[in-house]
Amino acid sequence: MRSFNIAVMPGDGIGTEVMAEAIKVLDAVEKRFDVAFALTQALVGGAAYDAVGHPLPGETLKAARASHAILFGAVGGDQWDALPLHLRPEAAILGLRRELELYANLRPVTSYKALLGRSPLKPEILGDGVDMLIIRELTGGLYFGQPKGPQVYAGEKRTVDTMAYTDEEMERVLRLGFETAARRRGQLCSVDKANVLATSRRWREIAVALAPEYPQVQLSHLYVDNCAMQLIRNPRSFDVIVTENTFGDILTDEAAVVPGSIGLLPSASIGAGGVALYEPIHGSAPDIAGQGKANPLATILCVAMMLKTSFHMDDAAAAVEAAVARVIDAGYRTADLAEPGCHSVGTAAMGDLVAQAIGG
Ligand code: IPM
Ligand code: MG
Repeated sequence: MRSFNIAVMPGDGIGTEVMAEAIKVLDAVEKRFDVAFALTQALVGGAAYDAVGHPLPGETLKAARASHAILFGAVGGDQWDALPLHLRPEAAILGLRRELELYANLRPVTSYKALLGRSPLKPEILGDGVDMLIIRELTGGLYFGQPKGPQVYAGEKRTVDTMAYTDEEMERVLRLGFETAARRRGQLCSVDKANVLATSRRWREIAVALAPEYPQVQLSHLYVDNCAMQLIRNPRSFDVIVTENTFGDILTDEAAVVPGSIGLLPSASIGAGGVALYEPIHGSAPDIAGQGKANPLATILCVAMMLKTSFHMDDAAAAVEAAVARVIDAGYRTADLAEPGCHSVGTAAMGDLVAQAIGG
Protein backbone atom coordinates (compact mmCIF):
# COMPACT_ATOMS: atom_id res chain seq x y z
CA MET A 1 0.00 0.00 0.00
CA ARG A 2 1.26 3.49 -0.79
CA SER A 3 1.61 5.83 2.15
CA PHE A 4 2.18 9.57 2.36
CA ASN A 5 3.10 12.00 5.14
CA ILE A 6 0.98 15.12 5.23
CA ALA A 7 1.80 18.09 7.44
CA VAL A 8 -1.52 19.57 8.51
CA MET A 9 -1.49 23.27 9.42
CA PRO A 10 -4.96 24.57 10.24
CA GLY A 11 -3.84 28.02 11.44
CA ASP A 12 -6.36 30.62 12.57
CA GLY A 13 -10.02 31.54 12.29
CA ILE A 14 -11.96 29.39 9.85
CA GLY A 15 -8.68 27.63 8.98
CA THR A 16 -9.31 25.14 11.79
CA GLU A 17 -12.92 24.59 10.75
CA VAL A 18 -12.31 23.93 7.06
CA MET A 19 -9.30 21.73 7.86
CA ALA A 20 -11.44 19.36 9.93
CA GLU A 21 -13.57 18.76 6.83
CA ALA A 22 -10.57 18.22 4.56
CA ILE A 23 -9.39 15.54 6.99
CA LYS A 24 -12.77 13.78 6.76
CA VAL A 25 -12.24 13.71 3.02
CA LEU A 26 -8.74 12.26 3.40
CA ASP A 27 -10.26 9.52 5.60
CA ALA A 28 -12.85 8.78 2.93
CA VAL A 29 -10.11 8.54 0.29
CA GLU A 30 -8.15 6.10 2.47
CA LYS A 31 -11.23 3.90 2.78
CA ARG A 32 -11.93 3.78 -0.92
CA PHE A 33 -8.41 3.72 -2.39
CA ASP A 34 -5.34 1.69 -1.57
CA VAL A 35 -3.47 4.42 0.29
CA ALA A 36 -2.59 5.51 3.82
CA PHE A 37 -2.01 9.05 5.03
CA ALA A 38 0.09 9.84 8.09
CA LEU A 39 -1.00 13.25 9.35
CA THR A 40 1.26 15.47 11.46
CA GLN A 41 -0.50 18.45 13.00
CA ALA A 42 1.67 21.56 13.17
CA LEU A 43 1.09 25.03 14.61
CA VAL A 44 1.15 28.08 12.32
CA GLY A 45 0.12 31.71 12.35
CA GLY A 46 -1.46 33.47 15.29
CA ALA A 47 -2.19 30.13 16.96
CA ALA A 48 1.53 29.34 16.90
CA TYR A 49 2.44 32.82 18.11
CA ASP A 50 0.09 32.46 21.07
CA ALA A 51 1.38 28.98 21.92
CA VAL A 52 5.13 29.38 21.44
CA GLY A 53 5.80 33.03 20.57
CA HIS A 54 6.51 32.61 16.85
CA PRO A 55 4.16 32.24 13.84
CA LEU A 56 6.40 29.65 12.17
CA PRO A 57 8.04 27.55 14.90
CA GLY A 58 11.07 25.40 14.07
CA GLU A 59 9.01 22.28 14.78
CA THR A 60 6.53 23.30 12.11
CA LEU A 61 9.23 23.85 9.54
CA LYS A 62 10.67 20.46 10.45
CA ALA A 63 7.28 18.81 9.97
CA ALA A 64 6.95 20.60 6.62
CA ARG A 65 10.32 19.34 5.41
CA ALA A 66 9.58 15.80 6.58
CA SER A 67 6.29 15.66 4.70
CA HIS A 68 5.35 14.72 1.15
CA ALA A 69 2.85 17.57 1.11
CA ILE A 70 1.46 20.32 3.32
CA LEU A 71 -2.18 21.10 3.82
CA PHE A 72 -2.55 24.66 5.04
CA GLY A 73 -5.72 26.38 6.31
CA ALA A 74 -5.48 30.13 6.82
CA VAL A 75 -3.68 32.60 9.07
CA GLY A 76 -4.37 36.03 10.50
CA GLY A 77 -6.73 37.91 12.78
CA ASP A 78 -7.24 41.36 14.27
CA GLN A 79 -5.68 40.44 17.61
CA TRP A 80 -2.26 40.03 15.96
CA ASP A 81 -2.41 43.11 13.71
CA ALA A 82 -0.19 45.28 15.91
CA LEU A 83 2.73 42.78 15.89
CA PRO A 84 5.87 43.62 13.91
CA LEU A 85 5.86 42.13 10.39
CA HIS A 86 8.15 39.20 11.25
CA LEU A 87 5.84 38.05 14.06
CA ARG A 88 2.53 38.54 12.30
CA PRO A 89 0.60 35.36 11.40
CA GLU A 90 1.23 36.06 7.70
CA ALA A 91 4.96 35.58 8.31
CA ALA A 92 4.18 31.87 8.66
CA ILE A 93 2.96 31.36 5.12
CA LEU A 94 5.58 33.72 3.69
CA GLY A 95 8.30 31.83 5.60
CA LEU A 96 7.08 28.46 4.32
CA ARG A 97 7.05 29.74 0.74
CA ARG A 98 10.58 31.10 1.10
CA GLU A 99 12.11 28.21 3.07
CA LEU A 100 10.64 25.53 0.80
CA GLU A 101 11.28 27.58 -2.37
CA LEU A 102 7.65 27.31 -3.42
CA TYR A 103 8.06 29.65 -6.34
CA ALA A 104 4.82 29.05 -8.20
CA ASN A 105 1.27 29.20 -6.97
CA LEU A 106 -1.35 27.53 -9.17
CA ARG A 107 -4.83 28.91 -8.74
CA PRO A 108 -7.49 27.28 -10.92
CA VAL A 109 -10.65 29.34 -11.37
CA THR A 110 -13.48 27.10 -12.50
CA SER A 111 -17.24 27.59 -12.65
CA TYR A 112 -19.76 24.97 -11.55
CA LYS A 113 -22.81 24.84 -13.80
CA ALA A 114 -25.18 24.67 -10.82
CA LEU A 115 -23.60 27.83 -9.38
CA LEU A 116 -23.58 30.03 -12.51
CA GLY A 117 -26.43 32.03 -10.99
CA ARG A 118 -24.33 32.84 -7.93
CA SER A 119 -21.78 34.76 -10.00
CA PRO A 120 -22.19 38.54 -9.92
CA LEU A 121 -21.45 38.60 -13.67
CA LYS A 122 -24.30 38.83 -16.16
CA PRO A 123 -25.22 35.58 -17.92
CA GLU A 124 -24.26 37.01 -21.32
CA ILE A 125 -20.73 37.62 -20.03
CA LEU A 126 -20.41 34.42 -18.02
CA GLY A 127 -21.90 32.10 -20.65
CA ASP A 128 -21.32 28.52 -19.53
CA GLY A 129 -18.61 29.60 -17.14
CA VAL A 130 -14.86 29.94 -16.90
CA ASP A 131 -12.01 27.45 -16.78
CA MET A 132 -8.76 29.30 -16.26
CA LEU A 133 -5.58 28.79 -14.31
CA ILE A 134 -3.67 31.68 -12.77
CA ILE A 135 -0.01 31.02 -12.08
CA ARG A 136 1.37 33.46 -9.54
CA GLU A 137 5.10 33.85 -8.91
CA LEU A 138 5.41 33.31 -5.16
CA THR A 139 8.90 33.93 -3.79
CA GLY A 140 10.00 37.17 -5.43
CA GLY A 141 8.95 40.73 -6.08
CA LEU A 142 7.73 43.16 -3.44
CA TYR A 143 7.05 40.43 -0.90
CA PHE A 144 10.69 39.47 -0.50
CA GLY A 145 12.86 42.12 -2.22
CA GLN A 146 15.56 43.82 -0.15
CA PRO A 147 15.94 46.44 1.17
CA LYS A 148 12.61 46.55 2.94
CA GLY A 149 11.45 48.82 5.73
CA PRO A 150 12.24 52.27 7.06
CA GLN A 151 15.40 54.10 6.00
CA VAL A 152 16.86 57.57 5.87
CA TYR A 153 17.46 58.93 2.38
CA ALA A 154 18.79 62.44 1.63
CA GLY A 155 18.09 63.40 5.22
CA GLU A 156 14.47 62.26 5.09
CA LYS A 157 12.76 59.32 6.74
CA ARG A 158 11.14 57.07 4.21
CA THR A 159 9.91 53.48 3.84
CA VAL A 160 10.72 51.13 0.99
CA ASP A 161 9.65 47.84 -0.50
CA THR A 162 11.80 46.54 -3.32
CA MET A 163 10.51 44.88 -6.47
CA ALA A 164 13.39 42.70 -7.63
CA TYR A 165 13.60 39.58 -9.80
CA THR A 166 16.55 37.61 -11.10
CA ASP A 167 16.33 36.35 -14.69
CA GLU A 168 16.21 32.82 -13.34
CA GLU A 169 13.28 33.57 -11.04
CA MET A 170 11.31 34.97 -13.95
CA GLU A 171 12.29 32.27 -16.42
CA ARG A 172 11.33 29.30 -14.23
CA VAL A 173 7.80 30.52 -13.56
CA LEU A 174 7.30 31.64 -17.17
CA ARG A 175 8.41 28.19 -18.34
CA LEU A 176 5.87 26.64 -16.02
CA GLY A 177 3.30 28.89 -17.66
CA PHE A 178 4.22 27.67 -21.15
CA GLU A 179 4.32 24.00 -20.09
CA THR A 180 0.96 24.26 -18.35
CA ALA A 181 -0.67 26.06 -21.26
CA ALA A 182 0.66 23.41 -23.63
CA ARG A 183 -1.26 20.77 -21.64
CA ARG A 184 -4.45 22.86 -21.64
CA ARG A 185 -5.90 25.02 -24.44
CA GLY A 186 -2.55 26.44 -25.51
CA GLN A 187 -3.22 30.07 -24.59
CA LEU A 188 -0.74 31.80 -22.28
CA CYS A 189 -1.38 35.35 -21.16
CA SER A 190 1.62 36.97 -19.49
CA VAL A 191 0.58 39.86 -17.25
CA ASP A 192 2.97 42.69 -16.44
CA LYS A 193 3.29 46.46 -16.19
CA ALA A 194 5.96 46.79 -18.85
CA ASN A 195 4.90 50.32 -19.71
CA VAL A 196 6.18 51.48 -16.30
CA LEU A 197 8.21 48.90 -14.37
CA ALA A 198 11.75 47.78 -15.18
CA THR A 199 11.12 44.29 -13.75
CA SER A 200 8.10 43.96 -16.01
CA ARG A 201 10.08 44.96 -19.10
CA ARG A 202 12.56 42.21 -18.39
CA TRP A 203 9.72 39.78 -17.58
CA ARG A 204 8.21 40.45 -21.01
CA GLU A 205 11.58 40.11 -22.78
CA ILE A 206 12.10 36.70 -21.21
CA ALA A 207 8.56 35.58 -22.06
CA VAL A 208 9.08 36.59 -25.69
CA ALA A 209 12.46 34.86 -25.82
CA LEU A 210 10.99 31.58 -24.51
CA ALA A 211 8.00 31.53 -26.84
CA PRO A 212 9.74 29.86 -29.84
CA GLU A 213 10.50 26.84 -27.63
CA TYR A 214 6.76 26.29 -27.22
CA PRO A 215 5.28 26.50 -30.72
CA GLN A 216 2.05 24.87 -29.54
CA VAL A 217 1.41 27.80 -27.15
CA GLN A 218 0.04 31.15 -28.21
CA LEU A 219 1.59 33.86 -26.05
CA SER A 220 -0.17 37.14 -25.40
CA HIS A 221 0.58 40.04 -23.05
CA LEU A 222 -1.65 42.25 -20.96
CA TYR A 223 -0.84 45.11 -18.65
CA VAL A 224 -2.04 44.26 -15.17
CA ASP A 225 -4.56 47.11 -15.01
CA ASN A 226 -6.11 46.03 -18.29
CA CYS A 227 -6.08 42.39 -17.14
CA ALA A 228 -8.07 43.41 -14.04
CA MET A 229 -10.70 44.82 -16.37
CA GLN A 230 -10.71 41.90 -18.84
CA LEU A 231 -11.22 39.37 -16.02
CA ILE A 232 -14.63 40.93 -15.48
CA ARG A 233 -15.47 42.03 -19.03
CA ASN A 234 -14.42 38.89 -20.80
CA PRO A 235 -13.39 36.19 -18.32
CA ARG A 236 -13.88 33.37 -20.81
CA SER A 237 -11.02 34.69 -22.94
CA PHE A 238 -8.46 33.30 -20.47
CA ASP A 239 -6.80 29.90 -20.38
CA VAL A 240 -3.53 30.30 -18.43
CA ILE A 241 -2.35 33.57 -16.89
CA VAL A 242 1.20 33.90 -15.57
CA THR A 243 2.21 36.88 -13.51
CA GLU A 244 4.46 38.18 -10.74
CA ASN A 245 3.74 37.89 -7.03
CA THR A 246 1.81 41.04 -6.08
CA PHE A 247 -0.12 41.21 -9.35
CA GLY A 248 -1.10 37.57 -8.87
CA ASP A 249 -2.23 38.13 -5.29
CA ILE A 250 -4.61 40.87 -6.38
CA LEU A 251 -5.86 39.32 -9.63
CA THR A 252 -6.70 35.97 -8.01
CA ASP A 253 -8.96 37.55 -5.40
CA GLU A 254 -10.67 39.37 -8.24
CA ALA A 255 -10.97 36.25 -10.39
CA ALA A 256 -12.43 34.37 -7.40
CA VAL A 257 -15.68 36.32 -7.61
CA VAL A 258 -16.37 34.91 -11.08
CA PRO A 259 -17.33 31.36 -9.94
CA GLY A 260 -19.46 32.89 -7.17
CA SER A 261 -17.44 32.56 -3.97
CA ILE A 262 -13.83 32.70 -2.88
CA GLY A 263 -14.80 29.73 -0.70
CA LEU A 264 -14.54 27.47 -3.73
CA LEU A 265 -10.97 28.14 -4.83
CA PRO A 266 -8.03 25.88 -3.94
CA SER A 267 -4.39 26.47 -4.75
CA ALA A 268 -1.15 24.56 -4.99
CA SER A 269 2.26 26.06 -4.29
CA ILE A 270 5.01 24.12 -5.96
CA GLY A 271 8.73 24.58 -6.16
CA ALA A 272 12.16 23.28 -6.76
CA GLY A 273 12.08 20.70 -3.97
CA GLY A 274 9.69 17.77 -3.72
CA VAL A 275 7.27 19.14 -1.17
CA ALA A 276 4.26 21.19 -2.23
CA LEU A 277 1.83 23.23 -0.16
CA TYR A 278 -1.92 23.31 -0.68
CA GLU A 279 -4.06 26.13 0.66
CA PRO A 280 -7.45 27.64 -0.09
CA ILE A 281 -7.05 31.13 -1.50
CA HIS A 282 -9.41 32.61 1.08
CA GLY A 283 -8.18 33.92 4.41
CA SER A 284 -9.05 33.22 8.04
CA ALA A 285 -12.33 35.20 7.85
CA PRO A 286 -12.42 36.37 11.49
CA ASP A 287 -15.93 37.77 10.92
CA ILE A 288 -17.44 34.29 10.56
CA ALA A 289 -14.89 32.23 12.51
CA GLY A 290 -16.24 29.87 15.16
CA GLN A 291 -19.76 29.89 13.74
CA GLY A 292 -19.56 26.69 11.72
CA LYS A 293 -20.66 28.38 8.53
CA ALA A 294 -17.46 28.66 6.50
CA ASN A 295 -17.35 26.91 3.13
CA PRO A 296 -14.92 23.97 3.36
CA LEU A 297 -14.99 23.20 -0.37
CA ALA A 298 -11.86 25.20 -1.25
CA THR A 299 -9.83 23.19 1.26
CA ILE A 300 -11.47 19.95 0.16
CA LEU A 301 -10.54 20.81 -3.42
CA CYS A 302 -6.98 21.39 -2.14
CA VAL A 303 -7.03 17.72 -1.16
CA ALA A 304 -7.92 16.86 -4.75
CA MET A 305 -5.04 19.01 -6.04
CA MET A 306 -2.70 17.32 -3.56
CA LEU A 307 -3.79 13.83 -4.61
CA LYS A 308 -3.17 14.68 -8.22
CA THR A 309 -0.08 16.87 -8.10
CA SER A 310 1.91 15.43 -5.19
CA PHE A 311 0.70 11.82 -5.04
CA HIS A 312 -0.14 11.21 -8.73
CA MET A 313 -3.45 9.64 -7.67
CA ASP A 314 -5.52 10.97 -10.55
CA ASP A 315 -8.36 8.55 -9.86
CA ALA A 316 -8.70 9.62 -6.23
CA ALA A 317 -8.43 13.31 -7.19
CA ALA A 318 -11.19 12.84 -9.74
CA ALA A 319 -13.32 11.07 -7.10
CA VAL A 320 -13.00 14.05 -4.72
CA GLU A 321 -13.83 16.52 -7.47
CA ALA A 322 -16.79 14.46 -8.60
CA ALA A 323 -18.04 14.21 -5.00
CA VAL A 324 -17.89 18.01 -4.63
CA ALA A 325 -19.76 18.46 -7.91
CA ARG A 326 -22.42 15.94 -6.85
CA VAL A 327 -23.03 17.69 -3.54
CA ILE A 328 -23.32 21.05 -5.29
CA ASP A 329 -25.59 19.59 -7.96
CA ALA A 330 -27.81 18.16 -5.22
CA GLY A 331 -28.40 21.74 -4.01
CA TYR A 332 -26.37 21.82 -0.79
CA ARG A 333 -24.92 25.26 -0.07
CA THR A 334 -22.97 26.95 2.69
CA ALA A 335 -23.95 30.52 3.58
CA ASP A 336 -21.62 32.15 1.04
CA LEU A 337 -23.55 30.52 -1.81
CA ALA A 338 -27.01 30.19 -0.27
CA GLU A 339 -29.99 30.89 -2.53
CA PRO A 340 -33.73 30.39 -2.23
CA GLY A 341 -34.70 26.74 -2.45
CA CYS A 342 -31.23 25.38 -1.69
CA HIS A 343 -30.41 23.02 1.18
CA SER A 344 -28.50 25.30 3.57
CA VAL A 345 -25.76 23.49 5.45
CA GLY A 346 -22.93 24.40 7.78
CA THR A 347 -19.25 23.59 7.48
CA ALA A 348 -19.36 20.15 9.13
CA ALA A 349 -22.44 18.96 7.25
CA MET A 350 -20.85 19.99 3.96
CA GLY A 351 -17.74 17.98 4.82
CA ASP A 352 -19.85 14.95 5.77
CA LEU A 353 -21.76 15.14 2.49
CA VAL A 354 -18.59 15.20 0.39
CA ALA A 355 -17.01 12.38 2.41
CA GLN A 356 -20.16 10.29 1.95
CA ALA A 357 -20.23 11.01 -1.77
CA ILE A 358 -16.65 9.71 -2.07
CA GLY A 359 -17.71 6.56 -0.27
CA GLY A 360 -20.15 5.73 -3.02
C1 IPM B 1 -2.67 34.87 -0.38
C2 IPM B 1 -2.73 35.74 0.85
C3 IPM B 1 -1.31 35.93 1.39
C4 IPM B 1 -0.52 36.67 0.33
C5 IPM B 1 -1.24 36.64 2.75
C6 IPM B 1 -2.01 35.90 3.82
C7 IPM B 1 0.18 36.85 3.19
O1 IPM B 1 -3.36 36.94 0.57
O2 IPM B 1 -2.16 33.74 -0.30
O3 IPM B 1 -3.16 35.30 -1.44
O4 IPM B 1 -0.56 37.91 0.25
O5 IPM B 1 0.16 36.01 -0.45
MG1 MG C 1 -4.19 37.05 -1.37
